Amino acid sequence: MKLLLNTDDLWTAIDGYFEDCLVSRDEALEAALTASAKAGLPQINVAPNQGKLLMLLARAIGARRILEIGTLGGYSTIWLGRGLPPDGKLITLEAKPQHAEVARGNIARAGLDAIVEVRVGRAQGMLPSLADEGPFDLIFIDADKFGTPGYFQWAVKLSRPGSLIIVDNVVREGALLDAGGGDPDVQGMRRFFDLAGADKRVSGTALQTVGAKGHDGFAILLVTSEPGPEPSA
Ligand SMILES: C[S@@+](CC[C@H](N)C(=O)[O-])C[C@H]1O[C@@H](n2cnc3c(N)ncnc32)[C@H](O)[C@@H]1O
Repeated sequence: MKLLLNTDDLWTAIDGYFEDCLVSRDEALEAALTASAKAGLPQINVAPNQGKLLMLLARAIGARRILEIGTLGGYSTIWLGRGLPPDGKLITLEAKPQHAEVARGNIARAGLDAIVEVRVGRAQGMLPSLADEGPFDLIFIDADKFGTPGYFQWAVKLSRPGSLIIVDNVVREGALLDAGGGDPDVQGMRRFFDLAGADKRVSGTALQTVGAKGHDGFAILLVTSEPGPEPSA
């Protein structure tokens, strides 16, 4: 097999195999991807097997309230929404009105509009106003990567002991190791790791992933104690 396929194709083929075996494709999810592509949105949504992981994690912890930062066309939102009970609540933050509009259509088509609310604006400005709506049981951070350290700090504030914080795109094709480079997204991720590593209120790990989305990874952090003062790191 390795002789027949280059690495990217092999990873993509294995993702396809996992999807065939375990991640049933359905109309609403496929329609969300089609509508997003048709509207010209970038195809930077999570892969189907990653989306299903988000759904399973939400179910495993019995999540009732979810916060997502970075909606795009609502593909990961649909997966997360499916991890909630019928009376659950998911708030997803999106900076671009056009993305939010496409997402709302996709979420409604998936039958989740009663429990999912798409809020438009920059997350930095909206997060402080969510204090009265938390705590959230699961927070998925997947917006601009430079902003990740700030989103992480807000995620901890908006959590409770037992909440999960998941951060996407932490590896960036290995660029994460480029300490002195000028890429602000990489610097954002490195700053996030510094903060998370120094923060005694969370216990985390990170995993590299390969697949249809190339070489990347995600960090997953469990909030272990009541949110308190931020560490000085
Ligand atoms: C990687 S995409 C999200 C993908 C989505 N979570 C999925 O997997 O289907 C990032 C999204 O975050 C949005 N975004 C970027 N900066 C933002 C900010 N400061 N506040 C809120 N959303 C932002 C972008 O417009 C884009 O739609």
